[in-house]
Amino acid sequence: MPTVILINLSYTVAAVLFILGLKFLGNPDTARRGNALSSLGMLLAVVVTLLDHAIIDYRWILLGIVAGTLIGAFAARLIAMTAMPELVALFNGFGGIASLLVGCIALSQSQLDRFILLTIFMSIMIGGVTFSGSLVAWGKLSERITGRPLVFNGQRFVNGGLLLANIVCGVMFVQHPEQTLWLVLAVLLSTSLGVMTLLPIGGADMPVVISLLNSYSGLAACAAGFAISNNILIVAGSLVGASGIILTNIMCKAMNRSLANVLFSGFGAASGASKKIEGDVKAISTEDAFYILEAAQSVVVIPGYGMAVAQAQHGVKELQGLLEKNGCEVVYAIHPVAGRMPGHMNVLLAEADVPYDLLLEMDDINPRMETFDVAIVIGANDVVNTAAREIENSPIYGMPIINADYARTVFVLKRSMASGFAGLDNPLFYKDNTRMIFGDAKETVNKLIRELSS
Ligand code: TAP
Repeated sequence: MPTVILINLSYTVAAVLFILGLKFLGNPDTARRGNALSSLGMLLAVVVTLLDHAIIDYRWILLGIVAGTLIGAFAARLIAMTAMPELVALFNGFGGIASLLVGCIALSQSQLDRFILLTIFMSIMIGGVTFSGSLVAWGKLSERITGRPLVFNGQRFVNGGLLLANIVCGVMFVQHPEQTLWLVLAVLLSTSLGVMTLLPIGGADMPVVISLLNSYSGLAACAAGFAISNNILIVAGSLVGASGIILTNIMCKAMNRSLANVLFSGFGAASGASKKIEGDVKAISTEDAFYILEAAQSVVVIPGYGMAVAQAQHGVKELQGLLEKNGCEVVYAIHPVAGRMPGHMNVLLAEADVPYDLLLEMDDINPRMETFDVAIVIGANDVVNTAAREIENSPIYGMPIINADYARTVFVLKRSMASGFAGLDNPLFYKDNTRMIFGDAKETVNKLIRELSS
């Protein structure tokens, strides 16, 4: 069989494996298989590409594979589950710089028509934005840079000017590819644009931005695929680009915010406190909470960012076991943006071996919330903030929430009356059926465990 047919057939198989991989990744039970299939597709694509262009010394390729495998394996082992968003940010950045470099190298091809030059420029520009933007995102998430939105007068004007300069540079680059000046400017302007667009975005909005940057890294790879006429790079890049933008959209919808609001509003910088909330806050001790829990037939646990901070997931699992032993049904209600990254709560609870089928999504749990004796809100705030239903001028009005207040009794486990990520008071804390149990979530859960097991 001629090599070119073999190569394209293998590329088709690799593309099918990518798509199947994505499909399997949609469910926790099949996610590992999905990962394995996608990796197999990528291995096939890389090996076959080498058959196509045996232009590089194989020893360099081997060195690359060994170095990449070692870095990947160490990174995956060393990174804590809570630092996963930072790792993903770095991976996106590497994807961006790889496309940028492929774009630069593609300039040395012998045949460069206008279309190819345009795709080269696109891979450099999008790759540059992705690379520098991802580094800023990583810096903000790991608190190496302040997580607060950095805003200054005329910022949108400056950023608009930078975007315009990138476009002008692209036009000049396509017309004068022989002049190195435009290549250098393309790299400088695109990386500056990445930094400047990320600075005004708050650290807590980084998960959405990371998902967007992930999409950009796919688009950059896709452009690089056109630049070097590689079909599988085009396919893989398009899949990453499309899935990244779908996830971005899902997250924005779950927060009831537009992408423009996430990117340009500096959300998280200002507090949006509005109407005074009426009612008293009723705090109880774990001893008193124990009596209510002991009598409960059904309990719903609603975790949030504070559970991740306190690392309370293992205690929560133990508490679940004790309640079940006592004849109580326990399920978990998961809000799509609880925590700080997509699937944050699912990952933490999976780490503690909580069975997947006990994790119910917001739309499945809300209709039966009234049937629960107790709702235990662990370190969650915005995702159960009833202002989203009750206070029309609240910045989160209309955001879908888990209706914890519909349960017969609500326990809220947090350290203080402090607000959550959105900086808003929560009327749930003042409701008649709510009891606050103040303290670190892990310590509170451990106390409840001691009460229940004695
Ligand atoms: P938040 O609204 O941020 O509330 C977390 C609460 O946890 C805080 O009120 C805090 O209160 C409490 N807490 C912190 N450390 C604790 C500890 N050690 N023990 C006990 N409590 C602790 O969290 P949420 O309800 O999960 O909502 C997530 C927010 O992040 C939403 O506004 C969402 O839009 C935003 N966001 C999420 C994502 C994704 S993809 N998940 C992306 C971007 C933005 P105390 O300080 O009083 O303890």
